[in-house]
Amino acid sequence: MKLNIEIIRAEHMGFCFGVREAVDEVHRYVDMNKGQIYVLGMLVHNEFVIEKLLKKGVIFVSEEEVLNEETPLKKGDIVIIRAHGTTQSVQKKLLEIGVKLIDMACIYVKSARDQVVIWEQRGYKSVFIGDKDHPEVKGITSYGMKPLIFSSLEELVKADLDINEQWVFLFQTTYNKFIFQEINEYIVNRFINYKVVKTICGATHQRQTAIEKLSKQVDAVFIIGSEQSSNTKKLYQISKKLNEKSYLIKNKEDIEKYMLEGVKTVGVSAGASTPEDLIAIIENKIKELED
Ligand code: F3S
Repeated sequence: MKLNIEIIRAEHMGFCFGVREAVDEVHRYVDMNKGQIYVLGMLVHNEFVIEKLLKKGVIFVSEEEVLNEETPLKKGDIVIIRAHGTTQSVQKKLLEIGVKLIDMACIYVKSARDQVVIWEQRGYKSVFIGDKDHPEVKGITSYGMKPLIFSSLEELVKADLDINEQWVFLFQTTYNKFIFQEINEYIVNRFINYKVVKTICGATHQRQTAIEKLSKQVDAVFIIGSEQSSNTKKLYQISKKLNEKSYLIKNKEDIEKYMLEGVKTVGVSAGASTPEDLIAIIENKIKELED
């Protein structure tokens, strides 16, 4: 018996433009066949994308390996930097080796890097709000003189920063917009000479708002993406709270019949690191199970 399941996609889902550009660029270089292509760090937190590139011969190197000189890199090799960027010291090390560096850091990341430098040159002390262990945060703050890094409003309040100083505040590009508003309110009410730079990109927020809306309207929700991707996991958590039949799907093998029992509508979303071809594979699998 045919189930007649309707698949409804979230309004915003899948690759953000920064990740899409970086992934496309790696494929473009590989297809040009100009020699060995290296990618610095995890290009995207998605096994499907990584495996495809590994099969094409791309070699991934980590920042630690570059700094410890443990890579096979040599003069003239092509190294592509992922969308989250990297630190100044890693870039310097790569340039010393003489590689051709393709910096695919997203425009939001590049802009945040520039803003740290500009405002510090104007005499401001910089404060960065975000996860200090995240590669993007490590990268951006490495361009500053000595930015203070806080992960939350509580940490910022506790630091009791001198209100007589000039402060510039920057945020991790994926920072939660609601928490940003709370922090902004604190800054506006406390400081006299300050600048809040809008470094948050809309991609994460758009995807979260879209799944919040969709998960209430459908019988089941499939969030497609890797367990290693924090933004995919976040989408799943939001959905699970609003719809008990929410599932995190890494690949088509994860889909089981019971997930579709009694289901007439399936909402689909995907993290910012999930490629379109994987989304299509999952949707086809749902259609197959309809029959
Ligand atoms: Fe850029 Fe935002 Fe994606 S900062 S890499 S577009 S999540």
